Amino acid sequence: MTPRSWTLSEAFDRAAPSYDAMVALSPGYHDQLARAAAALVERLPEQATVLDLGCGSGASTQAILAAWEGAGRPANALTVLGVDASAGMIGQALHKRWPATVTFGIDDAVHWLERRADASVDGILAAYLLRNVTDREALVAEAARVLRPGGAVVLHDYSVAGSRSARILWAGICHGVVIPLAILKRSDVPLHRYLYTSVRDFDSVPEVMTRLTRAGFGQLRHLRHRGWQHGIIHTVVGVRR
Ligand SMILES: C[S@@+](CC[C@H](N)C(=O)[O-])C[C@H]1O[C@@H](n2cnc3c(N)ncnc32)[C@H](O)[C@@H]1O
Repeated sequence: MTPRSWTLSEAFDRAAPSYDAMVALSPGYHDQLARAAAALVERLPEQATVLDLGCGSGASTQAILAAWEGAGRPANALTVLGVDASAGMIGQALHKRWPATVTFGIDDAVHWLERRADASVDGILAAYLLRNVTDREALVAEAARVLRPGGAVVLHDYSVAGSRSARILWAGICHGVVIPLAILKRSDVPLHRYLYTSVRDFDSVPEVMTRLTRAGFGQLRHLRHRGWQHGIIHTVVGVRR
């Protein structure tokens, strides 16, 4: 019998029950998502439709809602559509309480975007997604197509390419903390090994920015974060031309 190949969405399905507990152990995780979401909300009109691509268990969705509320905007003026390829992660999101204006779907982000109309959304957050997507060019191109001109995309992810110190720190954190914690918390260990290699092999921030420029985004901004994630987690904002 041929063994089934490892798939990322099945690994996230297995990790889903312990996902929130694992990220709670990562100092700054929610603060950094809050900052990324605030960078998106500041570009949104008074009434907005936002996509949360790779929404997972809803931590990034909660960050969008909190940023919107924190900016003094009325809750019913924001529609959020979250999508994730892992049914287990969406299951975790659905256990939480959401306003009626927030909905979730299970799908691959690129396929899901392909079914949306041109210029139909005001903003997109993709937190820890781009690195995981096989066809990154297609994801960024589809994000550009569905955003109205002036709409914003916020890509929030780890990136260590181009920095020797960030690469060394990332290796130390993964092998010394993240993978041992995944073992202790009975989370999915291969997924956490994949976290290490996928970040190690991911685009540099200038490469992410080049992708955005090629797809039709301008006014690019790069936000860095404090703490151990400085130089490791990055938020890139682009505005659809
Ligand atoms: C690290 S989690 C981040 C979840 C959430 N955005 C957050 O900030 O907490 C990454 C998520 O991306 C999802 N994902 C990975 N590849 C995907 C794809 N091609 N399409 C949709 N979701 C994907 C995974 O299932 C996982 O839930």
